[in-house]
Amino acid sequence: DKACLTLAIESSCDETSAAVLSGGRIILSNVISTQIPVHQKFGGVVPEIASRKHIANIMPVIDEALRQAQVSLTDINQIGVTYGPGLVGALLVGVSAAKALAFSLDIPLIGVNHLEGHIFANFLAHPELKPPFVALVVSGGHTSLVHVKDYNTFYLIGQTRDDAAGEAFDKVARVMGLPYPGGPQIDKLAKLGNADAIAFPQALSGKGNFEFSFSGLKSAVLNYLHNAEQKGEIVNKADVAASFQKAVIAVLIDKALQAVEKAGLTKLVLAGGVAANSALEKQLKASTEAAGVEFYYPNMILCTDNAAMIGCRAYYQSLMGDFANLYLNAIPNLKL
Ligand code: KG4
Ligand code: ZN
Repeated sequence: DKACLTLAIESSCDETSAAVLSGGRIILSNVISTQIPVHQKFGGVVPEIASRKHIANIMPVIDEALRQAQVSLTDINQIGVTYGPGLVGALLVGVSAAKALAFSLDIPLIGVNHLEGHIFANFLAHPELKPPFVALVVSGGHTSLVHVKDYNTFYLIGQTRDDAAGEAFDKVARVMGLPYPGGPQIDKLAKLGNADAIAFPQALSGKGNFEFSFSGLKSAVLNYLHNAEQKGEIVNKADVAASFQKAVIAVLIDKALQAVEKAGLTKLVLAGGVAANSALEKQLKASTEAAGVEFYYPNMILCTDNAAMIGCRAYYQSLMGDFANLYLNAIPNLKL
């Protein structure tokens, strides 16, 4: 009995990625072509350029994923693709390629929610991991607490009212003159600073509130920098980075632990690009241990956008018969 081979495609933002999975959890290849250097000079992702780059990259990336997996297109049993949320033009490239391949090979097509993909990265990183658990999804576009009841049932506990955590990292980095994407830059700079130097606001903190808000924090950092500039004071950027990061992490950890308790569970899973933040990982490890909660997070490559996580999610959807037809379309604001 041969294992099911899934070809997965991801193109929702600024990474063109293709992966081949054997069954649900074995990665045969996970090729990621990043456009970060292209967008860096604009300080953020330019949607039109992203779409064009995806068009140029998609077939070479798929070919390379097949080559590394040592399989040919005709060995593939099903195709999974991100159809939202994300940039519409970027998503359409992956969706169109996936539909064309599924049609020409006459194999099933699976439409995957990008956010669910981020959560499922943890099933690849941890073969023993099983639902139920609470997932904290923190990326450039999302900050959500999700109760994952089983492989196909998700309940949204709470999310951000305004900016996503990653967006706050990117915007704060930008005003400090750090290159895009700002998350890894702040992470690095914060290691050299004093996190207690500046008391930035921790919005919506307190008991029983599972919503997040980061736009006030972003403004507070901007005001701090602006005031210092007007007074002619020299700003210690490392202190600003460390204090900002501390404010973000404190609310994320507090709400995540509360959510685990409220759901009556003892397992927390971290997902999304911001999961790559070293201080967040370290402090969540300590806080979950103190609270007697099991803690899982993916390794760096599986944290940020990649097709392997999409393939994992697609596999579990296929077990449920959750297939798409050739009318599948990109849905930029797709919800969980
Ligand atoms: O999941 P992802 O690759 O794309 C989205 O789906 O949004 O996440 C990208 C986000 C960016 O905002 C980036 O700055 C942030 O993840 N990020 C980090 C770190 N690495 C990436 N934020 C904080 N610390 C990091 N080490
Ligand atoms: Zn993502």
